[in-house]
Amino acid sequence: MNWCIVTGDWDQLREDAQRLRIEVFVIEQSVPIELEWDESDAISIHTVAYDEDGQPIATGRLLPDGHIGRMAVRKNLRGAGLGGLVLNTLLTEAQRIGHTELMLHAQTHALGFYERHGFHRAGEEFMEAGIAHMKMTYLF
Ligand SMILES: CC(C)(COP(=O)(O)OP(=O)(O)OC[C@H]1O[C@@H](n2cnc3c(N)ncnc32)[C@H](O)[C@@H]1OP(=O)(O)O)[C@@H](O)C(=O)NCCC(=O)NCCS
Repeated sequence: MNWCIVTGDWDQLREDAQRLRIEVFVIEQSVPIELEWDESDAISIHTVAYDEDGQPIATGRLLPDGHIGRMAVRKNLRGAGLGGLVLNTLLTEAQRIGHTELMLHAQTHALGFYERHGFHRAGEEFMEAGIAHMKMTYLF
């Protein structure tokens, strides 16, 4: 599959990132829509991957404080490396900006995915938006 990846701000990528996040978090995972959008979107760096038809297929964001979040890949395209591609793009961007440490709240089913990319578990499992999570950290 041919793909391209774009990194930018919320004004640039809002429409495509929102489409994917509604599909994955609100519809698939039943996260209440009012929890899906927050004030962090406007100040984050966003990444969206597109297929050859220009359809958004994967996304994620990096907050100014070093939090990575809202990682989502279209369901029928998971396991093909797109999540890794988005995560690596955000890691590269974070390093370019000068972050020395990153963190995220991983859904527990995705712990192995983040561990394979160098994140470490940090703390106890907790519930967020009705889904089990664990804090993870990454050191450059
Ligand atoms: C977590 C998520 C972003 C990962 O994206 P992805 O594109 O599936 O990730 P990748 O393909 O890069 O890596 C998934 C790993 O699982 C393996 N895998 C195999 N089949 C898979 C499948 N059907 N679904 C997911 N992963 C699969 C892959 O081989 C890969 O292993 P590797 O890291 O050793 O290479 C994606 O599953 C997703 O959007 N989930 C729903 C939303 C979500 O839970 N987001 C995370 C919030 S913390």
